[in-house]
Amino acid sequence: MTAGFLYSLATSGLRLLDPETAHRLAIRALQAGLIPAGPPLPGNLATTVWGKRFPSPIGLAAGFDKDAEAMAPLLRSGAGFVEIGAVTPRPQPGNPRPRVFRLPEDAAVINRYGFNSAGHAVARDRMQAFRRYSMMGGGVVGVNLGMNKDETDPPAAYRAGVEQFAGVADFLTINVSSPNTPGLRDLQQEGLLAEIVAAAREALDRFDRAPPLLVKLSPDLSDAAVDTLVERLTSGGMVDGWIVSNTTIARPDTLKSRFASHVGGLSGQPVRQRSTELVARVYRASGGAPIIGAGGVDSGIAAYEKIRAGAALIQVYTALIYAGPMQLVRIGEQLSGCLSADGFASVRAAVGADHH
Ligand SMILES: Cc1cc2nc3c(=O)[nH]c(=O)nc-3n(C[C@H](O)[C@H](O)[C@H](O)COP(=O)(O)O)c2cc1C
Repeated sequence: MTAGFLYSLATSGLRLLDPETAHRLAIRALQAGLIPAGPPLPGNLATTVWGKRFPSPIGLAAGFDKDAEAMAPLLRSGAGFVEIGAVTPRPQPGNPRPRVFRLPEDAAVINRYGFNSAGHAVARDRMQAFRRYSMMGGGVVGVNLGMNKDETDPPAAYRAGVEQFAGVADFLTINVSSPNTPGLRDLQQEGLLAEIVAAAREALDRFDRAPPLLVKLSPDLSDAAVDTLVERLTSGGMVDGWIVSNTTIARPDTLKSRFASHVGGLSGQPVRQRSTELVARVYRASGGAPIIGAGGVDSGIAAYEKIRAGAALIQVYTALIYAGPMQLVRIGEQLSGCLSADGFASVRAAVGADHH
């Protein structure tokens, strides 16, 4: 029996379990070294963003490795980069279970984890150990910063996140777009977000080699709100890039699954188009700032469409729930083919091609 066969047996077995149990088991399997190392990645996938080299633009989105437990095995299995978190300043349990639902008929997931987190200190210690023991830094790892449910001073929570992680993270993401912490998404209002970003930036400026600061946006923002936010935060040089997008609270009437009306953030195919539209919007409004595109990427074509719309990098989550962590490599291989077929020598050359 080949490792590949065992692997596909294991991933189909995981789908029979409730999604949160499958999620925990997947993390354990990665930690135990049960996920095979990825094959060599096609050379045209290597790309450089913020001066950092990515072996592939296809990374793992926030919310899978929330507590920084499996960064090294994920990178070894072929993830171009990993974003850990969301991490909250203090540990908190998140919402009661069940809090993740598969919608297979819709190639989608609804989650309302609500920032279950071991807290800053635990994740920071694990990242420090990872940096110490992995050879040559070991790959690109970003940190998704959240805040506790009972937080009364949001700018202070994000400032604390920067102070804890700026020395170990390759990028930092201000996440005010998850739908499962009451009031969090209201922080995307221009004035409030500017205050949070200013607090984070001030803390960041005290580090010698400060990592780039990103803001992750909700697909439920209006186009006008996105334009205003992006123009304002780009022009002041406050933000170095954008992640587009988080999950949606919208429920398109095309959804077929019996879980469609569950409360939480919807991800996967139903957000694919809106998130690609927003990538294009943010690309234009920011004058070509680096964007990480996320939302319904389950194939090389889906990744390529976001890159052409303006994404320099891509993140995947829901497709992994259905096809396992090796899906990142498959998406990369397909993307490599798309680039070659259209005569692009590199990912970089295709970024924003639809606008030119
Ligand atoms: C189970 C689950 C948990 C998530 N947790 C987080 C999180 O903690 N922080 C965050 O910014 N996004 C989180 N997300 C959103 C993803 O990072 C991603 O932006 C979104 O799911 C769209 O990508 P996809 O369609 O490939 O899943 C989560 C998504 C899922 C499915």
